[in-house]
Amino acid sequence: MDQVDVTACERCPALVDCRSRIVNGDGPLDADLCLVGEAPGAREDEEGRPFVGRSGSVLDEVLREVGPGREAVRIVNCVRCRPPENRDPSAGELANCRSYLERELAAVDPAVVVTLGKVPAEHLLGESVAVTKAAGGVREARVGDRSYRVVVSVHPAATLYDDTQREPFEAALATAADLAGVTDDTDGDGQSRLGEF
Ligand code: URA
Repeated sequence: MDQVDVTACERCPALVDCRSRIVNGDGPLDADLCLVGEAPGAREDEEGRPFVGRSGSVLDEVLREVGPGREAVRIVNCVRCRPPENRDPSAGELANCRSYLERELAAVDPAVVVTLGKVPAEHLLGESVAVTKAAGGVREARVGDRSYRVVVSVHPAATLYDDTQREPFEAALATAADLAGVTDDTDGDGQSRLGEF
């Protein structure tokens, strides 16, 4: 168990009723790249890891394409418990979970944070964000008492409903990997991942 894991929390009654477990962050605590999603879905709630459903398959595939691979990045959600019917987390739920996210980002201290979708973009940037327009943009976000370089991205699920979102999704992750300096081959097979495009 990581020192940033939450083992017990009862702050959000609706989420406590819905969840099977708390879904903590996943991946190395010294990662240069940290991806922030919205909240666990059904598969994540079952398995206890973020992004293990269909969105997670797309995310894993694109991370492999742009270089680091999932094993090299930290992945965490704004909210650690599954909302009922996969609704968006409420402002109160986001606020309740914020200190855990702040603690995790401070521990990882990544060179770059990627927001996956509208909810994490707005949560970290503290403003309304039109994600399809903002995707690929590089911003600065104050989270707790630290600042992070943030790359805005569409959510991987968007690519499942709309083919045209695949390219901006790949481009945002490629920008983030490049800024974080993690585009090298990391699985030791000697193949440059960028060369696969
Ligand atoms: N969507 C998210 O935002 N997070 C997950 O963990 C899974 C799907």
